[in-house]
Amino acid sequence: MRLSRRAFLGGAAAAAVTGGGIYELVDRLGAAPARPVLEPAGMPPEQHLIDLSTTRSEGVEVIVPPLHHALVTAKLDVTDLAAAQRQLEDVLRRVDATYPLSPAGLGVTVAWGLPYFEKYVPAQAQAHLPFDRRARRSVLLPTRRFPSDPSTTVLEDNDVVVLLRSDRIEHVDEARRKIFALPFFQVTSIRRGFAGGGFDGGQSLPKKMALAAGVPGADLIPDGSELFLGFTSTQKAGIGPGTIANHETLGFVDLRSGYFRNGTHMHVSHIDEDLEAWYLNFDFDERVLTMFRPGMTNVRQNAQTIPQGPAQVSPQEELVRLFHTTGRFGHSASIQPTSRLLQDTIGVDGTHYPKGTAIPQRADFNTLDNPFAFSADGNVDSQPSAGVHFVVFNPSGDDFERNRLAMDGVLPGGTTLKVPPRNRAQGFNSVLTTTHRQNFLVPPRRHRSFPLSEL
Ligand code: HEM
Repeated sequence: MRLSRRAFLGGAAAAAVTGGGIYELVDRLGAAPARPVLEPAGMPPEQHLIDLSTTRSEGVEVIVPPLHHALVTAKLDVTDLAAAQRQLEDVLRRVDATYPLSPAGLGVTVAWGLPYFEKYVPAQAQAHLPFDRRARRSVLLPTRRFPSDPSTTVLEDNDVVVLLRSDRIEHVDEARRKIFALPFFQVTSIRRGFAGGGFDGGQSLPKKMALAAGVPGADLIPDGSELFLGFTSTQKAGIGPGTIANHETLGFVDLRSGYFRNGTHMHVSHIDEDLEAWYLNFDFDERVLTMFRPGMTNVRQNAQTIPQGPAQVSPQEELVRLFHTTGRFGHSASIQPTSRLLQDTIGVDGTHYPKGTAIPQRADFNTLDNPFAFSADGNVDSQPSAGVHFVVFNPSGDDFERNRLAMDGVLPGGTTLKVPPRNRAQGFNSVLTTTHRQNFLVPPRRHRSFPLSEL
């Protein structure tokens, strides 16, 4: 399906604040995955967890993410914190009562930025924010740039962000409207997108959406691809299981008072993708070595799901050795020395995590926003562009930074794989441009509304 440019752009404009707009196409171009109907049972203490089914893609177990996603960022204008806390919690409870916590219902994650803690609850934050033992710093770090970021990357200063995930676009939109009708929120951006869709064969949703939007290079996306860049990104082995990304699970973090037990760290960025550069300048073999690692000679041509179980994890010595022989490194392999457990580990609750288990829980989604569907500063291009709203949960801000630095070749222990930033030898950074980023803290569900303000 190809829309006329006018129809598409008209949809994009309408999408700004009112609702689905272009993303309503997701429901016309792809069907929501079949899911078991879950009873609205007791909700977990974690806000960031949502039970997702799995399927198989090219013989590999992959997680099926919710179809529709939205992120809404806001600043606050609050005088009575106690009243605001009650009002927000009241709305969130009504939303919880309307939709079960499942992809068929809705997942809501409320996270708070450093500006909130510094402006509204500075003394309580000093006393209660968890402390990262490895970094010897707070779990919530000021947002920073990374070596491959252009100087234009905006480091944002929002007070709060809400992530909404569902197979049903109307659930995302209704909850968004209810939450952000509260008078103390000044919405700074709305970011929308979609995920999954390519596992049942045929043309995947990202490809259909990119074609309908007419983004340059859309026709080059492989038919079944889960991502615009041609590979599956939700294989189960590559995403942290259960509560592994909670602050407390692996012992990286001192919880101090325990207020933030069952909480986690969330990084949000928008990454623009240059599809034409990726598909025209890199052939399939080079895309594989760029996304995974050099020397993967046994990958079937045009494969999209490439196993990354504990057995395929690249240890740091191997990464460095391959870099010295080939002058290159891949995205997954460069991150694995920091994203995977280096030894068998027992979590605080007694769960056994074998060596090679992934820690970060990625929850990113494809987008055609450029860079956002709505921005309070009006800085939105109505011309759609392929990209990702990158969302990831890690036990701490330092843990995220370790992964992100490794993606640029800056490894733990002081080793650096020296290539110029944004060079194609350096993973796939050369085709990515990060436009915005910010760190947030996800409190446990019991403290999701204006954390610490009641103390
Ligand atoms: C447009 C941006 C990005 C795309 C298209 C992308 C794509 C991918 C793909 C295809 C994989 C392999 C997934 C698998 O094995 O199933 C992967 C792995 C991963 N990516 Fe990215 N990625 C992007 C940005 C990032 C960023 C900014 C980070 C931040 C650190 C990141 C962190 C990771 C991690 C932690 C893994 C798993 C590594 C492992 O433990 O095997 N990615 N990514």
